[in-house]
Amino acid sequence: MTTADLFDSDFAAEPTPPTKPAQRAAALREQLHHHGHLYYVLDAPSIPDAEYDKLFKELQTLEAAHPELRTPDSPTQRVGGQVLDGFATVKHVVPMLSIRTETDTDASGAEAFDARIRKELGLTEADPLVDYVAELKFDGLAMSLCYENGVLMQAATRGDGETGEDVTQNIRTIGQIPLRLSSDAPKVLEVRGEVYMARGDFEALNERQRARIAAGEKGEKTFVNPRNAAAGAVRQLDPNIAAQRPLSFFAYSLILPSTTGEGLGTISEKFLDGLIHHGIHTQEQALQQLRVWGFPVCQHTQVVSGSAGLVAFHQKIAQLRDTLPFDIDGVVYKVNYIQQEASLGFVTREPRWAVAHKYPAQEQLTTVQAIEVQVGRTGKLTPVAKLAPVFVGGVTVTNATLHNEDEARRKDVRVGDTVVVRRAGDVIPEVVSVITEKRLHESQIFTMPHTCPVCGSAAVREEDEADYRCTGGLFCSAQRKQAILHYAHRRAVEIEDLGDKLVDQLVDAGVIKTLPDLYRMGFTALVTLERMAEKSTNNVLASIEKSKHTTLPRFLFGLGIRHVGEATAKELVRHFGKMDAIMDATLDQLLQVADVGPIVAQSVRTFFDQPHNREVVEQLRACGVTWLEGEPVAGASLPLAGQTFVLTGTLPTLSRDQAKDMLEALGAKVAGSVSKKTHCVVAGAEAGSKLDKAQELGIQVLDEAGLLALVTSHASPAEDAEA
Ligand code: IVH
Repeated sequence: MTTADLFDSDFAAEPTPPTKPAQRAAALREQLHHHGHLYYVLDAPSIPDAEYDKLFKELQTLEAAHPELRTPDSPTQRVGGQVLDGFATVKHVVPMLSIRTETDTDASGAEAFDARIRKELGLTEADPLVDYVAELKFDGLAMSLCYENGVLMQAATRGDGETGEDVTQNIRTIGQIPLRLSSDAPKVLEVRGEVYMARGDFEALNERQRARIAAGEKGEKTFVNPRNAAAGAVRQLDPNIAAQRPLSFFAYSLILPSTTGEGLGTISEKFLDGLIHHGIHTQEQALQQLRVWGFPVCQHTQVVSGSAGLVAFHQKIAQLRDTLPFDIDGVVYKVNYIQQEASLGFVTREPRWAVAHKYPAQEQLTTVQAIEVQVGRTGKLTPVAKLAPVFVGGVTVTNATLHNEDEARRKDVRVGDTVVVRRAGDVIPEVVSVITEKRLHESQIFTMPHTCPVCGSAAVREEDEADYRCTGGLFCSAQRKQAILHYAHRRAVEIEDLGDKLVDQLVDAGVIKTLPDLYRMGFTALVTLERMAEKSTNNVLASIEKSKHTTLPRFLFGLGIRHVGEATAKELVRHFGKMDAIMDATLDQLLQVADVGPIVAQSVRTFFDQPHNREVVEQLRACGVTWLEGEPVAGASLPLAGQTFVLTGTLPTLSRDQAKDMLEALGAKVAGSVSKKTHCVVAGAEAGSKLDKAQELGIQVLDEAGLLALVTSHASPAEDAEA
């Protein structure tokens, strides 16, 4: 049926009541079902929200005037209903079983599962690979949805697997769950899947909850994680409240009653015979059928072959995990062929044909032992929660950033609090939320200090800025330490043996006050420091000496000018060629540089307008720091300017940094992830999902030899020109 058909079925032509309201109600329901599916499931609405609301109101009014017209599948039934005393229990026709979990979070988990399946199926090495459907393991709660004559009649939680709770009223409020299926659906069917809360919806909900708590509303609390919030919403006795909790749904299995008669005792028979009878022979087909009936099925679901296919999927999803809008705690593998599923059957309470393969947990509970304020290189004050050590996202975490004053306030983290800590991918750990129920009575709201905790200078927060900054500049030892470490960084002038402990000692002892002091300090000053011996002192002095021969981009980056990162430093050098030209460039001239906007230009100008900064540059030069100066290169004339490259895997001879430097020298950007905007991927051994993605998107892929050929082809004409 097309949208036009839906809108054509208007009731105006009908002559006599009561058929008139009945038909109009039916037509409205039809239209609202159709637009609801476009909106909630396909995310592609075809009419404005206001239009939908108008149709909705009309149906509500009609049903209020004619209560007999209100059907259980009416979209108006999504909005809640009477408060319940408790939930009725429901006996599951087919038990809702759990699933075996592979304990190894590495590839061996998938290999072990495939090996077991092959053995159980009696397959030898000569037999073909087993096909699987690989799915995400959604971190929500399992739900059974029973449809009769195409209408959602009952939604039940898993409970103990045999009996669950009837949560139909609440589940009806989930827009993604169809209340009615197309007319070709079998008379009786059951769909199982996961009710979950998307991360964005969860954060917005907690935001609203915090506002309620702040407004003094009783009995309100924030939720620990999306799973918890979803479970709370599903088991909410007041469906009106449930309706305000934004839930989502993914369908992952279909159960059709067997039509071959009585006496079908085993779970396998109950589970699977009905599907085969309806011409569904694979899990893939079952999911496809669910999609056709209007259920949301996750787009990352994939048919794969053999253990290699499972391993690749596990790795691919591991990479994607942090970019998904919802939480998963692993993936699930299911044998694709229903016949094979049937012969594998069940062991006690678990199917043999499916397994969950987990990822390390990204969130854990711990306690806040203190809140410290750290001072960064540019004077930025960052509140940091010091935590009782906790293993999360694969590492032990003891610090979590609270970002800035507003964030710390918003989350209201206090010393002594029990908090949820999240570490996803390589992102720095953060405090997600506070378990307010566990808060100690004597806890106090955290406030940002108005003086620098290190040097005592005033700390100010400028208008439109989120951060407080220490105004002490290089008077502040914290900023001095950070400035020195930044100058000595591997990607700046690189002073190998200068670690943060040594810098702490040198600054605290007053040996180093400004960068040039690095080159002035002698053997005695160093060797007399604690933990320093003759050999280590000589090593440090040798690496300081070595750093004198550097390049201008490294030196400029090393100065630590706010907003001047590596890439900007390179652009500036490319554009102006010489240090003096950069120091004397006007705002307008700076704005000519590729990628330099008003904020960066102003920052460069402000830096070099300060006599003491110019003095530092002069003194460093006087100490013997040198670099080769070049000629200015106008505009973005470098051969790879505007192109983005991604490096993945291990190259046979070049290090990542070397490959990156080569590409950047030709004007290319080197990014961390592959997207449609990537021009080329350079892949080495054990390249993983980035290579897959490049191939999927049809992006050019080079190996090391290809990269070197590209670099030489571009490098030689320039050298000729110089000669
Ligand atoms: S299949 C008999 N598929 O994991 C096998 N379960 O099952 C039935 N879960 O709490 C489960 N994502 O809600 C299956 N793609 C998925 C899943 C999934 C999440 C949950 C399920 C249950 C637990 C164990």
